[in-house]
Amino acid sequence: MGATELGSETVTFTVNGAAVSVDASHPHLLSALREELDITSPKDGCSPSGQCGCCTVLIDGRPVVSCQQPLSKISGSSIVTLEGVDEDERRRYADAFAACGGLQCGFCIPGIVVRAKAQVDKKGADLTKADMSRHLGAHLCRCTGYVKILDAIEMVARGVTPEIAPTGGIGSRGTKYEAQELALGDRGYVDDMRVPGMLHAALHLTAHTRADVVSIDTSAAEALPGVVHVLTAADIPGETYVGIIYKDWPVMIPAGGRTSYAGDVLAVVVADDRRTARAASELIRVEYQPLTPITDPYAAIASTDVAVWGTDNNVLSTSTYARGDVEASIASAAHVVEETFVTQRIEHAFLEPESTLAVPSTNDGRRQLYVYSGGQGIWDDRNDIARVLGVDNEAVTVELVTNGGAFGGKEDMSNQAHAALAAWLLDRPVKCTLSREESFLLHAKRHPITMQYTVACDEEGHLLAVKVRAVGDSGAYASVGMKVLERMAGHASGPYHVPTIDVEAVAARTNNPVCGAFRGFGANQAQFAMEGCLDRLAEKVGISGWEIRKRNVVKPGQVWGPGQIMDDGCLGAELCLDAVKNDYDRARAEGKAVGLGLGLKNSGLGNGFKEITRAVVRFCSSGVIEVRHGWTEMGQGINTVALQVVVEELGVDPDMVRVIVDTTRELGLGQTTGSRGTLMGAGAVKAACEAARAADCAPDVDHLGEYRVDWTTKLGEPGVEHPLIHSTFGYAAQMVVADPATGKIERVLAAHDVGRAVNPTLCEGQIEGSVHMGLGYALSEDFPSDPETGFPTKKTLRSLGILRAKDVPQIDVILVESPQPNSPYGIKGVGEIGLVPTAGAVAAALHAVDGQWRNRLPMAADSESDD
Ligand code: FES
Ligand code: FES
Repeated sequence: MGATELGSETVTFTVNGAAVSVDASHPHLLSALREELDITSPKDGCSPSGQCGCCTVLIDGRPVVSCQQPLSKISGSSIVTLEGVDEDERRRYADAFAACGGLQCGFCIPGIVVRAKAQVDKKGADLTKADMSRHLGAHLCRCTGYVKILDAIEMVARGVTPEIAPTGGIGSRGTKYEAQELALGDRGYVDDMRVPGMLHAALHLTAHTRADVVSIDTSAAEALPGVVHVLTAADIPGETYVGIIYKDWPVMIPAGGRTSYAGDVLAVVVADDRRTARAASELIRVEYQPLTPITDPYAAIASTDVAVWGTDNNVLSTSTYARGDVEASIASAAHVVEETFVTQRIEHAFLEPESTLAVPSTNDGRRQLYVYSGGQGIWDDRNDIARVLGVDNEAVTVELVTNGGAFGGKEDMSNQAHAALAAWLLDRPVKCTLSREESFLLHAKRHPITMQYTVACDEEGHLLAVKVRAVGDSGAYASVGMKVLERMAGHASGPYHVPTIDVEAVAARTNNPVCGAFRGFGANQAQFAMEGCLDRLAEKVGISGWEIRKRNVVKPGQVWGPGQIMDDGCLGAELCLDAVKNDYDRARAEGKAVGLGLGLKNSGLGNGFKEITRAVVRFCSSGVIEVRHGWTEMGQGINTVALQVVVEELGVDPDMVRVIVDTTRELGLGQTTGSRGTLMGAGAVKAACEAARAADCAPDVDHLGEYRVDWTTKLGEPGVEHPLIHSTFGYAAQMVVADPATGKIERVLAAHDVGRAVNPTLCEGQIEGSVHMGLGYALSEDFPSDPETGFPTKKTLRSLGILRAKDVPQIDVILVESPQPNSPYGIKGVGEIGLVPTAGAVAAALHAVDGQWRNRLPMAADSESDD
């Protein structure tokens, strides 16, 4: 037995068979493992709250979340992490997860593997999926929907040898790039990185969402032993504002400035270690003159009192368009529904909190900064960091470190500028990692939107008119809020042909949490509302939900939404609808409560934006084939797509290919967003391969390829009758089956037209994970803020309402491949569409249970009739 020497400052136990003594002042075992012993397979997703399961280790053979274990309880124990598991056994788990596609970003997986090992050791082949899903109650996975995780665990339990398919060309089910390393926690995320002389930064956040900052006193923090420096806005040498579209987001609020939301940063403490930095941050004293926050978006729009410091009014954007005489169509219609739908703010809850490492250097007398970022747009990060430092872009390189999930929430910079600023000014490497609570406060969320819909049809259920008035709460800073409401407006009518339409969507600035990009990007909200109206009309007409969709689904050559004439790509919508027909009829005949949703989601930014991306293929003399592309790997598999394109085009050995994303070459075009990574990334890598082939694959040369979409038109462009606002869309029909007696959701059948499934396993995983997220959005997830203070009222992962493994119904995926004209391999993109139709389908299924319509999300919180 190890010993705790009372009165001494160390605790002794064994880790992976070796005796260790660690500093007794660590707040928990996870901190000792990661920060002192440099054991990084246990990940930190939420310490010390114990709610994500990522830090699970075996303590005396039992799986336990290590962030909840005080060291005083650990003395003398035997700890096993994945680093200490027998190599054969490690391989079995890694191969099973890789073969089944049981991981995406991978951040949650090492903890799940530890939990699985404990159960498999105990029950062997008797371990059932139902058992295991209960044991996963202590774990969250935000990417996979758990389906393929449970497949992988079952495979190990039954002793089935996984077949690791070599990565093949387009359409093959090869394993994900780096899957095995990710499964075992060996492929580091930013917070797993350590460099010599590294300092740690902590952010001091505001205590008020709207207050004048009178003074900031950092003296007590600076005096704390171990603190190297405390930075405030006065230390910023360059520009003080950043932002993807508008530069309106202050890096720090200065004395004399004004705060605008709960995530505003007032100071950055830099210290020898993270705990000291955080302790010192608590010692900063700020004098505020609080103002009343403006938290109601309608009140904000009506007010002349400006909510956000540095802006001049509270309307961030207004997106409008109209076609035909909507009022006349409504007046002449056989059936009309008028409904108001209200959707909630939700949190991304990617499992890896934001982390940035900035490393300065001097080459030939020139100062350089190398930044490791998990962001979704390292080119934007580089440009804004350079502006903040007041240096040329060439002085800053940003390398993407494949992140632990993002879903849109890592588009804006969070702590990149702060870590970069500290490293640059102190000329030392600086890492800044957010706590879960800070992550909640800082990054942008999904917009809550209130939508008034009027939809009219004729006696047979053919749509005649859609009229929409919507207001979204965008929170304080712009982020991409105006684009989200623009996308909501564009998708307002769903995948249907509507002869007349009139839409207005306003994004309001308030002192609530910033809202920006989140998987679906406004399309989810709009289509929850549109699908709800369609189901009401079906009931009035006396036809089924399937039939009214069939009668109205948009077809090639027809005018869609904002006036776009759809190409053959839109055949996918009807094909998806047809793909679920038999199951729909059967479930209804069996007396089940059945709901259906049909949706579309653009791939690519469109709206007149010139999207140009490049890739490089290089045959190195070492034999390695480097592929550099511009897109963020966040679990979705873009690196695997790049690899598969190279194998398809060049027929090379996949083991010789290395995929890299960095800013040393000008390849990028902004954010990995809008379901465009696979579409555009594949296009650019394909073009680079073609360039390589044309040059006989000459070694040590950058073979450059480019893919561009520069032919789209802005939404609402005056004088353009038929704007081509998007080049590509993905389509999906989802059927939700509920128990008519209990309302419990039993099954989701998801038919998705992806154009071409580059890797069907990864494609299914995207859809399963999206459906899981969509069910949470429909039923239980919420991230409200206090109307008095503007602060979020939820502070923990558990409180968010994310579905656990045992609560996920059967999810079946049908991949439909109706190719998109003029896209590489016919690809359409799948990143976001997976949860666009889900909430509407759930609402319809629950209506079939109890006859009540639901207009508010999440539905579990409101099952009141709105009629
Ligand atoms: S980090 Fe320990 S449970 Fe999340
Ligand atoms: S794979 Fe589980 S959180 Fe990403």
